[in-house]
Amino acid sequence: MRDNNSAFLPIGEPLLDVPALRADTPGCETVIHFNNAGCGLLARPVHRAMVEHLDLEARVGGYEASDARAVQVGDFYAAIADLIGSGPGNIAFAASATDAYTRALSSIPFEPGDVILTTRNDFISNQIAFLSLRKRFGIEIVHAADHPDGSGVDVDAMAALMRARRPRLVAATHVPTNSGLVQPVAEIGHHCRELDLMYLVDACQSVGQYPINVDEIGCDFLTATCRKFLRGPRGTGFLYVSDRVLRAGYEPLFIDMYGARWTGPDTYRPVDTAARFEDWEFPYAAVIGSAVATRYALAVGIEPISRRTPELATRLREQLAQIPGVRVLDRGPRPAALVTFDVAGWSPQPFKQAMDHRRINSALSYREFAQFDFADKDITWAMRLSPHYYNTEDEVDAVAGAVAELAASPSAGR
Ligand SMILES: Cc1ncc(COP(=O)(O)O)c(C=O)c1O
Repeated sequence: MRDNNSAFLPIGEPLLDVPALRADTPGCETVIHFNNAGCGLLARPVHRAMVEHLDLEARVGGYEASDARAVQVGDFYAAIADLIGSGPGNIAFAASATDAYTRALSSIPFEPGDVILTTRNDFISNQIAFLSLRKRFGIEIVHAADHPDGSGVDVDAMAALMRARRPRLVAATHVPTNSGLVQPVAEIGHHCRELDLMYLVDACQSVGQYPINVDEIGCDFLTATCRKFLRGPRGTGFLYVSDRVLRAGYEPLFIDMYGARWTGPDTYRPVDTAARFEDWEFPYAAVIGSAVATRYALAVGIEPISRRTPELATRLREQLAQIPGVRVLDRGPRPAALVTFDVAGWSPQPFKQAMDHRRINSALSYREFAQFDFADKDITWAMRLSPHYYNTEDEVDAVAGAVAELAASPSAGR
């Protein structure tokens, strides 16, 4: 979002103007925010747009405010569509990535014996949802093996399972919550399209960090939150629904008066667009904030973001790897900006508290977040540091320095 004190360099300039982008991000004055995989820092225009909308609601009334801001609300769909290469009618607003995911899952009429084919690195809540479907409907969950080179799921093994098992659904998480792994979602999608299989992608950690194009991925559903690398507000997310799925008449199990028309005492008709996956009530300030955050990311440039952000993470990983007692845990050839490691002699909470004390925002992952991955790595916890493009090289060095200092005094943290 360009405004008078623009945070961007002139068009054609390849580098991001990091000082200007930081000046546009009030949180940078207070903390070293390396928890963008949890929730990114809001940029000023996003914050301003939401506060303005709340003010308007207070002055004229909530319904009247959303009517008055219909254009800005509508831009949520257009902005997300621009971000992921779809049409606005393929986008549904959701309260979170998980909300989007379960709405998509609920639209699939699973029957006993149906197979969900997924990966060992799919997100914890997705795995629990599959288990719940198994408990209720008697479906089967199949996890494709990982590639021995550590690059995530073995696509050939997955494709062989697609042909042998004809799954009702193929589900893959692009970047998991618990490591910097980047899974080959487009390669998986290629096989899904060839075999005409329904394909659901969790892009929660990759949206806002990498270019995402739903046609290139070949997915039927794609889910994400707006609060992480997209730097939108909390309580927001979206669901992409392909034309194929809309035309085939898939609808969420609990469809409301916004998603469907009540056409007679005994009948209803889902609306034609992905709005059939939405409910009537919205947090409009957050919807507008998400639209502004998405426009902001597009104006900064997803391409330069996708170069700078993982580069900062690489710089951090390289320094952490030199620290005695620190074990960097990320795998794959080009990991994303989720840096995970454990530290000998420390328990997770005291380590995080010591980081908090230094005003470094971080996050912890535990074995239950990643039953397969953490079992393979034989770890019970990991610290996760996730920089974003507005973080600096100096911050990376300071964070690595803090980890080195703590790792050298493990007795303080037992
Ligand atoms: C890969 C992945 N998928 C899904 C989610 C869930 O997102 P939400 O909390 O918005 O439901 C997360 C959250 O960390 C995630 O990392």
